[in-house]
Amino acid sequence: MKSIILLLTAIPLIFLAACSDPEIAPTAPQARVSVHEPGWTSTLHGNVLAAKQYDASECRQCHGNQLDGGISAVSCKSCHASFPHPATGWVVGANSHIAFLRNNAYNLQSCQGCHGQNYDEVKINNSCSTCHTKPGGPEACNTCHGNSDDDPAVLTNVAPPRGLNGETAATTPAVGAHQAHLAYYPSTALASTCQQCHALPQNFAAAGHIDPDGNAELLFNGDLAKLATEGGARVPNVSYNAANNTCAGTYCHGNWGLLKSPKYDFIYIADKMEGASATPNWTDAASAACETCHKLPPTGHHPFDPPDCATCHIGVIDVNGNIIDDAKHVNGKVNVFLEEYPMF
Ligand code: HEC
Ligand code: HEC
Ligand code: HEC
Ligand code: HEC
Ligand code: HEC
Ligand code: HEC
Ligand code: HEC
Ligand code: HEC
Repeated sequence: MKSIILLLTAIPLIFLAACSDPEIAPTAPQARVSVHEPGWTSTLHGNVLAAKQYDASECRQCHGNQLDGGISAVSCKSCHASFPHPATGWVVGANSHIAFLRNNAYNLQSCQGCHGQNYDEVKINNSCSTCHTKPGGPEACNTCHGNSDDDPAVLTNVAPPRGLNGETAATTPAVGAHQAHLAYYPSTALASTCQQCHALPQNFAAAGHIDPDGNAELLFNGDLAKLATEGGARVPNVSYNAANNTCAGTYCHGNWGLLKSPKYDFIYIADKMEGASATPNWTDAASAACETCHKLPPTGHHPFDPPDCATCHIGVIDVNGNIIDDAKHVNGKVNVFLEEYPMF
């Protein structure tokens, strides 16, 4: 070990001596004499350190006590921003890899160079997958958001809570009404449920998933959120207002119209019936109460009292006015007289 230190420290002296010797022709501007061996930068310096259990005390002589430059003026962090890792608190806490990743757009690629493409290279005692035991390791869909204790293949565990900053309350924008929406639809339709509001990434690195703004994208490209009604004339233009957490224009919350047609014209008191086009607040469950999306019954529908609805909308609602089958309500279809047909 000593001999390496001696060798390393000897080289700069020769180098300095050479530079000050007027007899020696100046080197071409782009050529650089290194104190280190060829191949040192790409892998060798890492291998040398690995063989020493990452004891970098020798490097500190020239690269500084914090390895941020020292007399060499080369900071280790100029190439790998997260390494050397802090001596303490890198696993959890304010200075941890968690905080580092949050502040650096979750750049997991920057970890793969050393920790392996599959995050499974053991460093001293651990690989990423020692602690991140789910399939995919740290790329598991519930590592950064959702319920990390459970199966990431189940999408209810991928949606908040937990938000990206650890939020758990439904009154925070990160959590909001996620689970209320997901619980409404059958588990087989969960992917399509996310897609009513977001693009659902196929994998962590999928385009559009992580972008620098750090906020989830609300695209509303779903078939239900944007369902066209009134014979195709009413095409929802859906938007989310992040300043007050309201959502406007969805079919689901009442942006629909149904044109009077000969089949059931007796039930209309106008040329069409329509919903109430609500602007529900994502963080306030009360803003999506009964009668916010449509009146009981809707505008343009022959008036009835709620106990009567069950007579015709059989299997959707009971005589107490409670929805009894979620699958038949807010499904994009008219459910009446035991029939089901498109809401067009
Ligand atoms: C004797 C002083 C000295 C010691 C000890 C030393 N270095 Fe350096 N190192 C330098 C200097 C000077 C440079 C910048 C010029 C050069 O590349 O030679 C440098 C550059 C580097 C570079 C960047 C090379 C490039 O092409 O940009 C790496 C990587 C590096 N050192 C790693 C290490 C590691 C790891 C250790 C400990 C095992 C170490 N060094 C120990 C002086 C030293
Ligand atoms: C010029 C860029 C550069 C500088 C400066 C640099 N490194 Fe590296 N380092 C690399 C590259 C490239 C790798 C290979 C892994 C990768 O691609 O991320 C690496 C890998 C390593 C590894 C990985 C070992 C392993 O087992 O995986 C260690 C440890 C390391 N560097 C320590 C240091 C230290 C300590 C310093 C400062 C003294 C330093 N490096 C400075 C470019 C650099
Ligand atoms: C230049 C190589 C290098 C890079 C890049 C790197 N690591 Fe490491 N990492 C190591 C080495 C070496 C160790 C073991 C020594 C240590 O803990 O400092 C380690 C250890 C760890 C540990 C375990 C600490 C413990 O106590 O068990 C965690 C967590 C970790 N790294 C996370 C990350 C994350 C997250 C990234 C990407 C942001 C990252 N590392 C990037 C080399 C690297
Ligand atoms: C020694 C254990 C340990 C190792 C090794 C480890 N992690 Fe972690 N990591 C944790 C813990 C604990 C958490 C917090 C988990 C939680 O909140 O549910 C975490 C959280 C994370 C998160 C979530 C960040 C967020 O915003 O919530 C990411 C991403 C992550 N780790 C990536 C990595 C990567 C990449 C590696 C390897 C380079 C790694 N971890 C290695 C223990 C570890
Ligand atoms: C009804 C619309 C809707 C559905 C369905 C929905 N989301 Fe969201 N999602 C939102 C809104 C609104 C936000 C918060 C935007 C903000 O920050 O104000 C959000 C935010 C998020 C965030 C970022 C959380 C944070 O901390 O900022 C993630 C991750 C997310 N959703 C994942 C999912 C997943 C996974 C699904 C399906 C399992 C899903 N969402 C279904 C509307 C929805
Ligand atoms: C390393 C952390 C991390 C992992 C792992 C991760 N996500 Fe995300 N996810 C984020 C961040 C950060 C955002 C919001 C920021 C943004 O959009 O820029 C987000 C946002 C989302 C959103 C909201 C829409 C969007 O793109 O903004 C969905 C849906 C989502 N993630 C699903 C997934 C799925 C599915 C997986 C697994 C394939 C996954 N996430 C794995 C960090 C992660
Ligand atoms: C006498 C039978 C009858 C009663 C009672 C009745 N409806 Fe309807 N309703 C219909 C028919 C028939 C249609 C479908 C008209 C068409 O397809 O053109 C309809 C359409 C609707 C629609 C729009 C299309 C759809 O199915 O989503 C809503 C919403 C609705 N009714 C709600 C109610 C509510 C709420 C009540 C109770 C307050 C109620 N109805 C009572 C017969 C009835
Ligand atoms: C989140 C918005 C929303 C809320 C809240 C809501 N509805 Fe609806 N409702 C709809 C939509 C959209 C339709 C149109 C048909 C469809 O997509 O199923 C509908 C249709 C109906 C129908 C017609 C049968 C059918 O589904 O075709 C009845 C009856 C009904 N709602 C009763 C109620 C009652 C009673 C409540 C309160 C307990 C209620 N709704 C709350 C959105 C809502």
